[in-house]
Amino acid sequence: MKISLTSGALGAEVEGIDLKNSSKENFSKINELLLEHKVIFFRDQNISPEQQINLAKFFGPLERHVYVKGREKFPEIIRIIKGRNEKHQWGETWHTDVSYNKNPTKVIILKSIKIPPVGGDTMFSNMEIAFDTLDEKIKKKIKDKKAIHSSLGAAAFVEKYEEMEGNGNLDEYSNEHPVVRTHPETGKKILYVNSMYTKKILGMDKNESDDTLKEIFLHQERLDFTCRFKWTENAVAIWDNRSTQHQGLTDFFPGRGLGFERIMDRIAIEGDKPN
Ligand code: SIN
Repeated sequence: MKISLTSGALGAEVEGIDLKNSSKENFSKINELLLEHKVIFFRDQNISPEQQINLAKFFGPLERHVYVKGREKFPEIIRIIKGRNEKHQWGETWHTDVSYNKNPTKVIILKSIKIPPVGGDTMFSNMEIAFDTLDEKIKKKIKDKKAIHSSLGAAAFVEKYEEMEGNGNLDEYSNEHPVVRTHPETGKKILYVNSMYTKKILGMDKNESDDTLKEIFLHQERLDFTCRFKWTENAVAIWDNRSTQHQGLTDFFPGRGLGFERIMDRIAIEGDKPN
């Protein structure tokens, strides 16, 4: 097995593991690597939807997305499509997936189906380092505080993306989570707010909450907490959605990358209630 670190902050590209191998030993190794590097990447893994589902089930029960319709034959998989003429793609600013849910996603497995010749890399950021390096005054301010995370409604998820289909759900969801959560497997502290879904820190007035969140979001965007993955076809990224944030870069600019299609298959595994 060969492990190449993607950056000094997080991420590793793994060679010598076959994702089709469904033995317990193989899955345990993958989980160990995931906990160590937070996001792991595999190339040339031509796994079928069934094999992707099988791999995902090792981490726990599968989650259905609240707004996006699953694939016809594989409802557990959602297909993320950026069409040729679309400028935007799903997940295009920093976020933690579905943090507005009571039990936000534990792990995501994303497989590339069609990759543009340029553009559409995915970036990941390490929220343990973000907590460790946070200003001590802010750490004191947010100690034992909770924040409200809200979904943006169905429109923000699918109506904006021409090629993706909603599942008909129009409800909005809000849940409170600790601003600093503890990782259930490693015991490490994680800065658990994100600029896409976190709306307010409870126990602060609106101005104080807005100012504090603004400062935290800016800190979370530091490039030295990140890594960036350039996709190739049949690549797989597995990330720990509890300790990271990510964004799919929408650098499809006219005259450069616009006019390309990008297709990914995504499976999510249910998480637990952040503590
Ligand atoms: C996501 O935000 O879940 C998808 C990221 C990507 O497509 O790169």
